[in-house]
Amino acid sequence: MEKNYKRTLITTALPYANGPVHIGHLAGVYVPADIYARYLRLQGRPVTMVGGSDEHGVPITIKAKAEGVTPQDIVDRYHTIIKDSFRELGISFDVYSRTTSAIHHDMASEFFRRLYDKGVFVERETEQLYDEEAGQFLADRYVTGECPHCHAPGAYGDQCEKCGTSLNATDLINPRSAITGNVPVLRKTKHWYLPLDRYEEALRRWILEGHKEWKTNVYGQCKSWLDLGLQPRAVSRDLNWGVPVPVAGAEGKVLYVWFDAPIGYISNTKELYPDSWQTWWKDPETRIINFIGKDNIVFHCIVFPAMLMAYGDNYQLPDNVPANEFLNLEGDKISTSRNWAVWLHEYLRDFPGKQDVLRYVLTANAPETKDNDFTWRDFQARNNNELVAILGNFINRVMVLTHKYYGGTVPAAGELTDTDRAAFAEIRTAAVEQTRALETFHFREALKEAMNIARIGNRYLQDTEPWKVVKTDALRTATIMNVATQICASLAVAFEPFTPFMSARLAQMLSLPTLRWDMIGREDIIAAGTVIAEPQLMFEKIDDDAIQAQMDRLARIKEENRVKAFKPAPQAPDVDFDTFMKADLRVGTVLECEKVPKADKLLRFVIDDGIGHRTIVSGIAAHYPDPSVLVGTQVCFIANLPPRKLRGIESQGMILSAEDADGSLVVMGPSKPVTPGAQVK
Ligand code: MF3
Ligand code: ZN
Repeated sequence: MEKNYKRTLITTALPYANGPVHIGHLAGVYVPADIYARYLRLQGRPVTMVGGSDEHGVPITIKAKAEGVTPQDIVDRYHTIIKDSFRELGISFDVYSRTTSAIHHDMASEFFRRLYDKGVFVERETEQLYDEEAGQFLADRYVTGECPHCHAPGAYGDQCEKCGTSLNATDLINPRSAITGNVPVLRKTKHWYLPLDRYEEALRRWILEGHKEWKTNVYGQCKSWLDLGLQPRAVSRDLNWGVPVPVAGAEGKVLYVWFDAPIGYISNTKELYPDSWQTWWKDPETRIINFIGKDNIVFHCIVFPAMLMAYGDNYQLPDNVPANEFLNLEGDKISTSRNWAVWLHEYLRDFPGKQDVLRYVLTANAPETKDNDFTWRDFQARNNNELVAILGNFINRVMVLTHKYYGGTVPAAGELTDTDRAAFAEIRTAAVEQTRALETFHFREALKEAMNIARIGNRYLQDTEPWKVVKTDALRTATIMNVATQICASLAVAFEPFTPFMSARLAQMLSLPTLRWDMIGREDIIAAGTVIAEPQLMFEKIDDDAIQAQMDRLARIKEENRVKAFKPAPQAPDVDFDTFMKADLRVGTVLECEKVPKADKLLRFVIDDGIGHRTIVSGIAAHYPDPSVLVGTQVCFIANLPPRKLRGIESQGMILSAEDADGSLVVMGPSKPVTPGAQVK
């Protein structure tokens, strides 16, 4: 192993306070960070976990404008929601603060000022996009346009969400102001740039040579950034929301959000430990781990480290940055703006008391090495088939039998048999594997090993059959039940990082006041004579109705998004009136309507057109699975198209349909019944 550290500082990406937290944030950052923090605490290793809301940046000001409130209103609202929902999920921050705090503003300001005084920044006057009507520069998301790389429309001034490239606003093709929709003009403005190029060599050495053990996705992204060559990056913006640039003549300018936000890790530590915070940042015996999502890699591995190098004063660089990939939802990318997410605060409302289930599912399915998918069916299956059927079932059987045979008092064990010893040995092996996985940030695997311990427990009961032995051998039964109780105690420890609520209840039931990692697999965690509380179920089944309700909600959102996204086709070129009048449009009543045999798309209509019976073949079968619903309705058709043969049937005209946003076709008719043969004028 590497060198011994005295303490570990865990940082978690500061979520933007422009919306609530969703399962993607949780799976990528907060659940893994919390697992790791809890594991270290169980090991008795000093650890501090810092978090907080990222309350600056353009998206917050855009949202405030859209709602007609102040940016402060927005961040107050979401900071509260985020903070409360994290607490309820059991994310065990030692501090959860915010970047609008006075401590943070002071520290970010001082940080900039020191780099400024050291002459680190490059000052540049450049032409930036400016909205004359709004009277402001268009930083970052205030401008949209065509991506210069992939040519997707709607790319932002700081990034194209389609291809992921980070952009400068002035690179956009056909830029438009997000405030007024106007075409922006260019105007001169001065900004301060962090010359990343000057830190390139040091960063190369530190990451590419010094941290080959980092996750391949992280190492690979860093390498491709470094191989492309680093450019100076502006660290200020023309904006009135943020930390003011602490330099004379910089009125109306604030620090770029990605400059101040990571300093939030430091200022939040200072808020927690006003006296000793420097130990956590500047002592080489502190190990810093940054938990982030993959879109944050460049800022944590390149920009912030360069800032820390520039600052000097012994600031320590992160030891590891175990960034995760993305979690999708039911096959689609999670999106705050499209409301395509499972929001934590809503989950907590809809599934009260089921924090552990979400934590479990997000870990079992964590996007550690590749993007992964959350589905409600998988959520239900993992709860019912794993938490209930394996873990909960084992604990419940042990508790119920202990009450049945011994009135709830743990019996003393006699001599252990080979079966007993083998069970303990297997658990200790699982614990070694689990420890190794946790140390290397492989949390899915660690969870699997914990679940293996429950499986070992179930198999132990199956093999020893105390319910049979009890009829003949009291001492052996006592031994079995003692062993089974010790396995329950092991589970309370092994699952604590993942399902802390279950562990706390189980530990209480077992009168186990403290949990320690080295207890797992031990034969004497619970003393004979310990009184066990009334058994209570650790997990309960989730029924289809609860799952269906969530899937219905997502279906509604999908439908809303579809409607919002619909753009009517551009109007066709003019047609002259006489040409139009040549089309003979009429209404008829449908007498028959059937699928044409062996033709997927075609329906055969027989229509009373006032003169006689007219046959029309129409390619809309896919949109009317039961064509008989059209019989008796009235439809609009073109009467004077030359007849043509389709699948051997002569079609005498064409039925008019409207094409809806999703491409579905709906037959057109009059808004009240008319006499068959009526002309459409
Ligand atoms: N708010 C950023 C995001 O959600 C993360 C900021 S992390 C920090 O992507 F390092 F800047 F704090
Ligand atoms: Zn692009």
